[in-house]
Amino acid sequence: MKEITVQSKVLIADSFEELSPKEKELCEQAILAKENAYAPYSNFQVGSALLLEDGTIITGSNQENAVYPSGLCAERVAIFTAGNQAPKLAIKAIAVATCAEEKENEFPAFPCGSCRQVLQEQEKRHNSNIKILVISHHNKVYVIDSVKDILPFSFSNDFL
Ligand code: THU
Repeated sequence: MKEITVQSKVLIADSFEELSPKEKELCEQAILAKENAYAPYSNFQVGSALLLEDGTIITGSNQENAVYPSGLCAERVAIFTAGNQAPKLAIKAIAVATCAEEKENEFPAFPCGSCRQVLQEQEKRHNSNIKILVISHHNKVYVIDSVKDILPFSFSNDFL
């Protein structure tokens, strides 16, 4: 049998100061957005902030429901808001802040599989990579250049 190895490239910034001013602002907005989370069932608050190509920042937070699957992740709240308010603009970056308290040397909580799938569709739609900034509890930032790095063997409309 032939083996295929798939790699993910992740850069780790030790603080917001290693980011560009706009990326730093994006991280700060994601942390603020977490305050708007409605998560009475999981008690797991998530905030997101995405940057559009014209510099606009759109935020999101997770919104839960008593019918659990009716709720939505913070990332998709922001992405779908952008799709509605600025359908022609590409998304350049998304920052995500969760309340997960990872231990030293562990990864923070990365976007879930469904959000990666939705991010991938937006990259393809606008033919533009989306940088993902995952903020750790210690304010380190895990930077991924494109969702392609963390969604290998993905499904897309190419198959339809
Ligand atoms: N959640 C997000 O908002 N983003 C993710 O990437 C992972 C999970 C939310 C969904 C749910 O409201 C809570 O976190 C627990 O899963």
